[in-house]
Amino acid sequence: MQVIHAVDALRQRLKAEHSIAFVPTMGNLHAGHLHLVELAKQHGQCVVVSIFVNPLQFGANEDLTSYPRTLQADCEKLQAAGVNVVFAPSEAEMYPQPQTVTVNPPPVANELCGALRPGHFAGVATVVLKLFNMVQPQVAVFGKKDFQQLAVIRQMTGQLDLPVDIIAGETMRENDGLAMSSRNGYLSAAERLEAPRLYRALTLAAEAVEQGEDNFAAVESQTTQYLTQLGWIVDYISIRASNTLARATTENHELVILGAARLGRTRLIDNIEFKRP
Ligand code: PAF
Repeated sequence: MQVIHAVDALRQRLKAEHSIAFVPTMGNLHAGHLHLVELAKQHGQCVVVSIFVNPLQFGANEDLTSYPRTLQADCEKLQAAGVNVVFAPSEAEMYPQPQTVTVNPPPVANELCGALRPGHFAGVATVVLKLFNMVQPQVAVFGKKDFQQLAVIRQMTGQLDLPVDIIAGETMRENDGLAMSSRNGYLSAAERLEAPRLYRALTLAAEAVEQGEDNFAAVESQTTQYLTQLGWIVDYISIRASNTLARATTENHELVILGAARLGRTRLIDNIEFKRP
């Protein structure tokens, strides 16, 4: 496995490769990322993983400086997973000049997490487009844990005619249901015990709709109240059409319920795809 920090060296290493599967990450890797790597191995002969904590996608009051940076441990995991190339650029390598040219993401980027984190998805889309141009993969793998991010990337790739197939990996969960995330490390012991409740609350809400409840607003509001009573600060609970992320109507059968809520200082997101009759 080669660890490369410079764009020129990356281009040199990859220029003869014709089947590149790419997994972009911000590092601090866990089993969820390694699952994406396994998917990448099924879709390309050369697997490239990027590790870059992208300042463009963090808001002014967010955790950019405290975000865990664990390059050496990450590389050990990727080596054991059979990755070919790790691309770990510095901020100066990625943004040698102020990034005044940015991607204006589609309207779906302004809702849900985008409504609470203005500019977040523009930052994500911009760095992903730059990484695609640097790595030039045939396939790129993203996790469904960040369901809205996946929707933004799919729309960007489609509308800008990028020659990259986007593959989605399922969310990996701890034994108690908590979705794996680098931010779980911020939880105190007591918060960690409470954290799986977000998944359980989303599951109960999805089951209610599956069993015929079609007042989606009521389900969203009951789930919000339930979590709020238990001390969560709920950013949103929302039932959407899974292909467009438009608000669900009774015409939709393939749905996703998305939630974002804070436990103390840690913001958790999760989602569950489901069907209604
Ligand atoms: O999902 C992430 O880790 C990041 O948003 C991504 C896609 C690597 C872009 O920085």
